[in-house]
Amino acid sequence: MKDAAELSRRAAADLLDAIDRDPAVVLGLPTGNTPLGMYRRVVATCRHAPRCFRDVRTFNLDEYVGLPAEHPGSYRSYMRRHLFDHVDVRCENMSVPDGTAREVLRQAPDLPFEEALRRECARYEAAIQAVGGLDVTYLGLGQNGHIAFNEPGSPLGSRTRAVELAPSTCAANARHFPPGEPVPQRALTMGIGTILESRRLVVLAAGAAKAEAVTRLARGEVTDDFPASALHLHWDVTVLVDEAAAAATFRRPS
Ligand code: GLP
Repeated sequence: MKDAAELSRRAAADLLDAIDRDPAVVLGLPTGNTPLGMYRRVVATCRHAPRCFRDVRTFNLDEYVGLPAEHPGSYRSYMRRHLFDHVDVRCENMSVPDGTAREVLRQAPDLPFEEALRRECARYEAAIQAVGGLDVTYLGLGQNGHIAFNEPGSPLGSRTRAVELAPSTCAANARHFPPGEPVPQRALTMGIGTILESRRLVVLAAGAAKAEAVTRLARGEVTDDFPASALHLHWDVTVLVDEAAAAATFRRPS
């Protein structure tokens, strides 16, 4: 694709088509800069189709540990700002892992926090299973090859769990936080195994900063040093890249 705008158009068309085919589709949804254009276009289209998201179920890939949902840097806030507040998705149908495990702790206030997080992750996995699994999951690509918050070294069969973030990931995500405010160093993330169970995967990578990761992904060697390489184990993956992200991998036909 020529640029990020074209990539966003294609990604939005893909997502809207998935809803068209199955109005009760179960979507895995990403955050970050890359999907912003996709969400903008989906919102613009759904304004004219008010029942767009009425029966859609969504599960976000990840969330920071310790940030309340209302914090502007939380992924739940991001999703509200960029999608949930603008479409008719039902509250009970949109799920983001809770990095404060509020509901678990409300029910069992004496639980140690780590155990509460573990239970929140188990609850999240069970909620995905309860609706029959993810149909289509959209993913960004970290510069170090992370998918969701599965950093290098994540086991290929990993499930939803609490993880430590790489310093480079915290640095890259600092722009989503008010100046001077530290980026949390831990997150809850769907595991690579969880993601690979989605029936279809769509990866979005735009901009020169992703060129190296795209080259490594295209190389095809599956290794837990480069989490995105696990995508080669899936049977139905679409990778959408713009020219800047593809520049080091593919030559333009002359
Ligand atoms: C964060 C998210 C990932 C996302 C990545 C890339 O780390 N947890 O899910 O893919 O950022 O973000 P960006 O699109 O801003 O480059």
